[in-house]
Amino acid sequence: MDQSTRTHLVGLLLGTENDWPVAFESLVRALGPIPDAHGTTHDIQTERTTIEPFNLRDRPRHSLVIDRLAYWYYVPREWLKKISLMDDVYLLNSPFTFQSMEKHSAYCAMMRLGLKIPETVLVPYKNPLDNAKYAYTAERYNQPFDLDEVAAQVGYPMYMKPFDGGGWRGVSRINDRTDLFRAYDDSGEMLMHLQAAREHDVFARALSIGPETMVMHFQPDEPMHNRYAVDHDFLSAQAGDECITINRTVNAFFKWEFNSCEMLVKRGTDGQPDEVYPIDYANACPDVAITSLHYYFPWAMKALVKWSAYCLITERPNSVDLETTRYFAIADRTDLSYEEKLAAYRTLADEHFEADRYYDWCDSRLRNFDAVALEWFRGPGMDSVIVDTVRATFPAHEHDHFIEHFRGLVALWCRDEEARLSTSQFVHP
Ligand SMILES: Nc1ncnc2c1ncn2[C@@H]1O[C@H](COP(=O)(O)OP(=O)(O)O)[C@@H](O)[C@H]1O
Ligand SMILES: [Mg+2]
Repeated sequence: MDQSTRTHLVGLLLGTENDWPVAFESLVRALGPIPDAHGTTHDIQTERTTIEPFNLRDRPRHSLVIDRLAYWYYVPREWLKKISLMDDVYLLNSPFTFQSMEKHSAYCAMMRLGLKIPETVLVPYKNPLDNAKYAYTAERYNQPFDLDEVAAQVGYPMYMKPFDGGGWRGVSRINDRTDLFRAYDDSGEMLMHLQAAREHDVFARALSIGPETMVMHFQPDEPMHNRYAVDHDFLSAQAGDECITINRTVNAFFKWEFNSCEMLVKRGTDGQPDEVYPIDYANACPDVAITSLHYYFPWAMKALVKWSAYCLITERPNSVDLETTRYFAIADRTDLSYEEKLAAYRTLADEHFEADRYYDWCDSRLRNFDAVALEWFRGPGMDSVIVDTVRATFPAHEHDHFIEHFRGLVALWCRDEEARLSTSQFVHP
């Protein structure tokens, strides 16, 4: 039997954050070498990728890159495209679909799949664009339109938000005509959607990494550190499963590997099922800071390590082809109900993410990881992440309070995890 060792390098393309990268790097080190079924041992190393000139024919040292930078910085973005097209490097996420498929494309694709996207209209820019050709084009081709008529199509209350949104930039709630005209005047050169507001009972935010999905109770009006409630029972089984299916379908459709999805859930009355309305599901490489995810941070870090290891060691191919027709073939069928279509999308999505194979692989190849990770999250490494991140994020007079707050939530996760590991009946979602 071949007893060789293979080394795989994971590149991290980072913004300002230092919390999750430290956790990720530490967990990879704690995991240690991973044996495969053929006698080869796989050693995973990590490196924070720096930005420098690159020759298009250079061979990268990396086998997988996790990117949280390229959405605004073009040098790493173009490098990711090069290493994807030329060198088959595995990307979380691919700029080919993350940059070309923004919120607007995500609405279009998921409307075509029949998901319950609220009524949405794209309106032309309010102000002239900074482009020499604008005056001519606008005079000749911009049709005058009646904003009141558009509003009547959508209905009050509604939301105005950028077509390529993220992080609540430029989002406003519009209750009446005065709000509408003020918000449109203020939109300037931002290209905006108007979208019907969905009244709802609960806001669910799902975070997916490969085939792993966590559906969390989100409270958008709270300050950032309190937006995710620690709440394991806030959805019916049907709504919870629908949220997983929607998030996984979006991700498989766009080949996003690491993305979050926001859904509004209206509870059914008189035995009717709950309704799930997706409103924002193009958040590739979302915020996973300890200061926002807190209790769920260990889950996210473990999933990121496991999925990276799985992709590297099983040599999972990373393609830029979307193959959208497979989804549209289901969407266009008239003989299937909404529930049947969702089930068919879920099958495609689970196949895409190799969900069964992944969980089997984790069970056999990463057998000790749960215990090793729990030890790390309980130890001084995690505590330093909390202390350093709180000091970098909050004003001095709040440090003690927030250090204790996040320590408490991570300790709660550790207790729950210990209980989970001591029962053998754990079922993967
Ligand atoms: N159609 C809608 N119905 C109800 N609330 C909405 C709707 N659209 C947006 N919102 C509210 O506005 C917030 C920001 O909108 P979102 O589409 O998530 O933009 P962003 O991409 O900037 O996060 C949402 O988290 C939600 O609270
Ligand atoms: Mg959002």
